[in-house]
Amino acid sequence: MPSPSDHFAAAALAAGCPLDQMRHFVNAGVVLQPRQLAASAAARLCDRPDGPTAIGFGGARGGGKSFWLVAQMGLDDCQRFPGLKCLLLRKVGKSNLEHFEDLRRRLFPRLPHKWNTTEAKLTFANGSSIRAGHYQCEKDIDSYLGLEYDIIGIEEATTLTSRKYHDLITINRTSRPGWRPRVYSTTNPGGVGHAWYRSTYVTPFQQHQETDTRFIPATVDDNPFTNVDYRRVLDRLTGWQRRAWLHGDWDIAAGQFFTNFRRDIHVVDHFNIHANVEWFAALDYGFNHYTVVLLGCRDSDGNTCVMAEHSARGWVPERHAEAIKKMLERYQVRLQPRNIYSIALQRFVAGPDVFARNSEGATIADQYKKFDIYLRPAYDDRVNGWAAVLHGLGDPDAGVRPTLFFHKNCTRLIDCLPNLQHNPAKPEDVLKVDTDEDGIGGDDSADALRYLIASRARTITAKKLHGL
Ligand SMILES: Nc1ncnc2c1ncn2[C@@H]1O[C@H](COP(=O)(O)OP(=O)(O)OP(=O)(O)O)[C@@H](O)[C@H]1O
Ligand SMILES: [Mg+2]
Repeated sequence: MPSPSDHFAAAALAAGCPLDQMRHFVNAGVVLQPRQLAASAAARLCDRPDGPTAIGFGGARGGGKSFWLVAQMGLDDCQRFPGLKCLLLRKVGKSNLEHFEDLRRRLFPRLPHKWNTTEAKLTFANGSSIRAGHYQCEKDIDSYLGLEYDIIGIEEATTLTSRKYHDLITINRTSRPGWRPRVYSTTNPGGVGHAWYRSTYVTPFQQHQETDTRFIPATVDDNPFTNVDYRRVLDRLTGWQRRAWLHGDWDIAAGQFFTNFRRDIHVVDHFNIHANVEWFAALDYGFNHYTVVLLGCRDSDGNTCVMAEHSARGWVPERHAEAIKKMLERYQVRLQPRNIYSIALQRFVAGPDVFARNSEGATIADQYKKFDIYLRPAYDDRVNGWAAVLHGLGDPDAGVRPTLFFHKNCTRLIDCLPNLQHNPAKPEDVLKVDTDEDGIGGDDSADALRYLIASRARTITAKKLHGL
């Protein structure tokens, strides 16, 4: 009959853990759970020159995140590499030390080490160490910034802003030949860092496009050691907290505007474009910001699908026009009808800035006109526009059927929608957000969607507008 250690070895092998890593855990008498083992296997990928440099684990409450983080750093990394310097960061002072002390007693009873309470530093016999750092507010982190750490472990990473996270990465460097610096983080959805964490770790994982990062999801169901009372607390949660903390759903967070968006329902890989369809497009203009163009299609049952998106920044209209035409060609949709059999756009709308006249009386719409793209003003009432999008999403949880869907290729739009927040000063409106320096985030795609969906009733013709 297989023994518990046989079971562990089989699970570790299945997760991709190398033998020496498995041995480190066995020697310490610690049995990691399958998701924890998968995270540890991912941590070892950081050794490879082309491997990731940041591992995210968890994404829901009670999944064994804190246990894994200290186990991976202390039992595996610190043991195999003498003199390694690790920093374990967590928000809120006192409980951090108690928490770490608790894990230290549970994880390292078999490993000789020294624990210095004043410095909050644990040092193993081979000189490797873990410093348990904490911060009440972000500026406390600055006191760590002059130093150098081979591994930085961040607990509850969404309590950090993107800027602080990037500050921390600057001290994740090494002078130890053969060691590749890395960041391990654990977290739950929600918090000030929800959006950057989601786009840095979770979205690349969902889209199978991970390069520098690996994200290993784990929920309370992956951790049989969670105590029953904690499990009961999680079971009693409702609303966004239930979806986020119990199920690890990153498409939801406190203050989220489109709480009725469900990736598994609204994102589709097929939409029947053949019978009785209407095609239409919308443009949200930007130069430093993104210009986003969405192509929509409506079927005879009143379902709308956003079939394709084009987004780029720093481009002149000529270049956009070319990309837009290529996008339409893929669906054999023309800008203008050639004959009664050809399929053409019913309308192509754009936000108001496209029609503002410059000092010479010209508009951006005029520039697009040169490339046969006749834009007309979109319906631009924000509150009613968002309401139209909300209406289209339906309410799947309450059995209200959606009529608005997104083709899975529209990744920027799909990524943007769940991030949008209520404007605290006007809750029925979406809070405006700009893209960061790396082009991440921003609400340009959502504005284009609002124009696309809410402009259906408008009847101003392109010809009339352009004086043709
Ligand atoms: N492999 C394991 N072996 C034994 N106990 C474990 C293991 N993994 C986790 N646990 C225990 O399960 C409980 C929950 O784990 P942990 O605190 O690491 O979860 P968490 O995801 O950090 O939770 P939270 O979301 O509350 O921060 C703890 O009591 C922890 O000691
Ligand atoms: Mg924890």
